[in-house]
This record gives sequence, structure tokens and C-alpha cells, in this order.
Amino acid sequence: MPRPLLPPMTIDEKVRKTLKELGAKTPEEINELFAAVGATGESERQALVARGATDEGECERLAKELRDRWLARKSGLIPSIDECWLKTAPKEVKPAVGRAFNELRKASAALEMDALLKAIPIKHKDKRQGNLAFSGETETKQTAGPDRTLPGHRHPLGSVHPVTQVMREIEDIFLGLGFSIESGPEIESVYYNFEALNIPESHPARDDWDTLYVDSRTLLRTHTSPVQIRAMEKHGAPLHIICPGKCYRHDNPDSTHATMFHQVEGLAVDTDISFADLKGTLDFFARKFFGEKIQTNFFPSFFPFTEPSGDLAISCVFCDGKGCRVCKESGWVEVMGCGMVHPEVLRHGGIDPAQYSGWAFGLGVERFAMMKYDINDIQLFHQGDVRFLEQF
Ligand code: FA5
Repeated sequence: MPRPLLPPMTIDEKVRKTLKELGAKTPEEINELFAAVGATGESERQALVARGATDEGECERLAKELRDRWLARKSGLIPSIDECWLKTAPKEVKPAVGRAFNELRKASAALEMDALLKAIPIKHKDKRQGNLAFSGETETKQTAGPDRTLPGHRHPLGSVHPVTQVMREIEDIFLGLGFSIESGPEIESVYYNFEALNIPESHPARDDWDTLYVDSRTLLRTHTSPVQIRAMEKHGAPLHIICPGKCYRHDNPDSTHATMFHQVEGLAVDTDISFADLKGTLDFFARKFFGEKIQTNFFPSFFPFTEPSGDLAISCVFCDGKGCRVCKESGWVEVMGCGMVHPEVLRHGGIDPAQYSGWAFGLGVERFAMMKYDINDIQLFHQGDVRFLEQF
């Protein structure tokens, strides 16, 4: 005969009804009921073990709650089974109920305080091992910290960024020539970035070096040239310095323009300095950096802070000066601006132009790296893509 359909009940509700009320008559139906109770007890115990406790106090509180729910003399689920199922069981199924109840009692030893306190891990601190079996089986769980016998995690080594590599190479060449390294702030005043460099407010050259302003008198420097003034003010003449560093411009990003890039500035101030010194130094530098085969050429140009001004071009590294797409068939590639320091700029640096003269240059480090490593997009330097970076 099919069992009567009962509304779904929780274990707590079931243990407070008699077997008759639950419709369990045969030993199979009774075993099924006991199995469901055992499984519930075990899963509640396991959930508590998985949750763990943050300290001894919490461990005890949680263990007591679970222990009381199941074993408390009057209200516990196991004593209630004793009262409602065992004591009221009809004679013919009593032995089966008694056996199942004994099994359940044995397994419920895992819900005693001692057993629970051993099994519930205290995070970070607990070094105990415990018997976790509620169903009577024994399993051992390591509740101590991480397993120190496992192999460690290897942290992959990075490499020096190509822009930094090129910057260091440039620095080494000039250090070898007796130059020293200066630095200046990236957040610069309008005075040092423009005015002291002979670029008054109305000068059209300001458009070329448009940048981000912090306020009307402070900006992100557009070039490393302000360090010329700062170094002259600080050290006076004679002076032989380079200043590597970041610059910022309101340029639309493309394959050769970035809004943040690096420059190296060079400045030599001494008595009797001429354009020949500038040519000789930059020719030496270009051959050291790009290789002895490289030829240099100086083209007239304009910068408000140098007079005369020039652009240094090198014979194209891609076609050896024969003419290609990169050098636009000219055989030459412009690599930096340079010139003789304008007397007004020397004055702003506190140096008497009647006594001293000087030359200066400014080059873009990313563009140098692009030529050296044949890289066709400047954006690659700043995207942090390891597939690109790990090639250097
Ligand atoms: C200047 O910045 C001058 N201060 C250089 C100078 C110094 C001339 C001393 C004379 C004496 P220019 O704007 O041309 O010049 O920039 C110099 C180099 O910076 C360029 O040749 C280029 O390599 C690099 N550069 C300029 N703008 C960008 C940009 N948006 N992205 C990447 N590189 C750039």
C-alpha cells in the first residue's frame, strides 16, 4: 500500500511526531527516517567545521549551540526521538527502531562538546586535529596553518623597461664624457617652463608645447629644458649636465606621439664654447649610441631658447641612408633639437653671456628606443603588455 502523502516537514518537526503519525510502519521506512536524521546531523556538523571560529570563545559558543540542539536532555533532537519514536513504537517494529536508535546515538558522539571543540578549526591559530565522524566513520583533518612541505610559488622576474634601458645607455655615454646628471620637477612653474626660456606669454611657440595646467602658473613640464635654468641657478658656470625625465604634452596620441614621454636634455656652459663643440659632442654620442657607421647632419631650426638652433639628423638606421619609407626617401632622420644657448637664457640662469657661452640639446628617449629596436608604435612602451616588454 502506498504511504500516505504528508506535507513536507523539517527534521525538527518529524522528531516530535510518532512513527505512526509519520506513516513509518515497516523496518525499511523506519531506517529511512533514521538515515535522514543522521545525514542532517552530519551535514550540520560539517558546515560548522567548514565555517570555523575566529577564537576559542566563538568556538565554544558554536559547539555548544550545535551540541544542545541535538543532545540537550529535554529539548534535543536525539532525546526527542527517544521519546516520540522509540518509546511509542509498536511492538512488532520496536527491535528495528531500537537498533537504528542505538546506531544514531553512537554516531551522535561526534556532536558532544569535546569532539566538536577538537574538530572546529580556529582560523590562523588552531593546531589541533580532530575526529570528525558523526556517522561513526573516522576521518582526520589537519587544521594547522599552510602545509610548509608544498613547493613554493615562483615569482617571475621582470626586465628593465626598454625606455629605462635606453635612458641609462644615454646617461652612460655622457657620464663618460664628464657630464653629470641633474633632475627637476615634473610639476613645473610657467616661469621655468616658458618665461625663463625666452618664451613670453604671447609667443606662438607656446602652442607647440601645450600641456596640462595645474593652475594658471603651474603646469606639467612640456620638456626637460627648465632644468637648464634650475641647474645654472644652482651651480653657475662652468656646467656640463644632462637631465633625463618625463615630459607631458597635449599631443594627440599616434604612433610617434604620446601625451607622456621621456626626454634627455644636455647643457654645456663654459668659456669659449662654440657650435663646433656641440657638433663634435653630438656626433660622438650618435655614433656611440647607434654604431660607428652612423653619419650626422645638422639642419637649421628654431627654438626660442637657442640661437642659432638646429636639428640633428642621423643617416637612416633602416636603409643606411639610401632612402626608405621611414626616412621618407631622404636618407636622414631628425633625432633631436639643439643649438647655442640664447644669451637671454644664460642671463635668466644668472650667468653672464659676455663671459660664458653654451650649447644645449633635447632628445626624445622613446623615439631613440624606436629607432634602436625597430619599434613602429610609441604606444607600445606605455601599455604594460608583457608580451612586448619581455622581449627586452
Ligand atoms: C624640445 O622639447 C626642446 N626643448 C629641445 C631642445 C632642447 C632644443 C635644448 C634645443 C635645445 P621638441 O619639441 O622638438 O624640442 O622635442 C624634443 C624631442 O622630444 C623630439 O625630437 C621628440 O623626439 C620628442 N617628443 C616631442 N614630443 C613628443 C611626443 N608627443 N611624444 C613622444 N616624443 C616626443
